[in-house]
Amino acid sequence: MRAGGSDPIREAARILAERGNVVVLTGAGISVESGIPSFRGSQGMWAKYDPMEYATLHAFMQSPRKVWEMLAEMVSVCGGAKPNAAHRGLAALEEMGVARAVITQNVDGLHQAAGSRRVIEYHGNLDELICVSCWKRYPTRDRWTPGSVPLCDCGEILKPNVVLFGEPIPWLAQEQAEEEARTCGVLLVIGTSAQVSPACDIPRIAKESGAAVVEINPEPTPLTASVTDIHLRGTASGVIGAMVRMFHDPDMRSPKG
Ligand code: APR
Repeated sequence: MRAGGSDPIREAARILAERGNVVVLTGAGISVESGIPSFRGSQGMWAKYDPMEYATLHAFMQSPRKVWEMLAEMVSVCGGAKPNAAHRGLAALEEMGVARAVITQNVDGLHQAAGSRRVIEYHGNLDELICVSCWKRYPTRDRWTPGSVPLCDCGEILKPNVVLFGEPIPWLAQEQAEEEARTCGVLLVIGTSAQVSPACDIPRIAKESGAAVVEINPEPTPLTASVTDIHLRGTASGVIGAMVRMFHDPDMRSPKG
């Protein structure tokens, strides 16, 4: 569904302002402009690494050294990345009292680096390693160097504390994300192909709970024709940048009762 008005971004900003309680769901697309490849599409990580061979818990337990080849690339690329205008814009919207939480599928920590305070890491974070045997945790920077396969004090191989395919979502993150979706006025969905569950169920939960769904993505997704009220067809930094400028206008922020 496309916005009918002349300026769909302004129309969407009005809906955010009028309804309030804005919660954001982000995917890999928001970090593309920080130099981190997304997963799907011709330039995506999964075009280079078959996820069934490199990104399942089973594959990690079978051949951890092989899976660490892919993980090493992710740790290096994410480690060197900086937040972009979209990450900073969301932190600004939180500061203005427009957005109240970010649910992210990303494991790059860029929302927190941009200054967002309430961030629900639905798929974990690469900054921490966990032992698959004794569950001990370590900061990645203390245990991992390029080319190495990090080991726990117990001798077992460490895995980044991210959710691989076949692993459950951390229950607290799932609880918090669903609670935010059930109680938000608007769900702003940015840069996700909405193909991976249960993350792709969050917009449906929000919609069924009465929220408006605004989607920012250069491409349509399965959400666009199903739950999305306004599809803003553009890049995260372009659209969020424009929205933040609109919210600097006090009139824009005042309509909510
Ligand atoms: N701004 C906004 N959206 C963008 C941009 C951009 N600059 N560039 C690309 N996109 C969109 C793409 O059109 C695509 O719809 O971002 C989306 C990225 O989709 P995926 O690569 O599938 O990433 P994501 O949806 O986050 O994947 C979900 O799948 O592989 C697993 O665990 C991994 O968290 C990941 C999950």
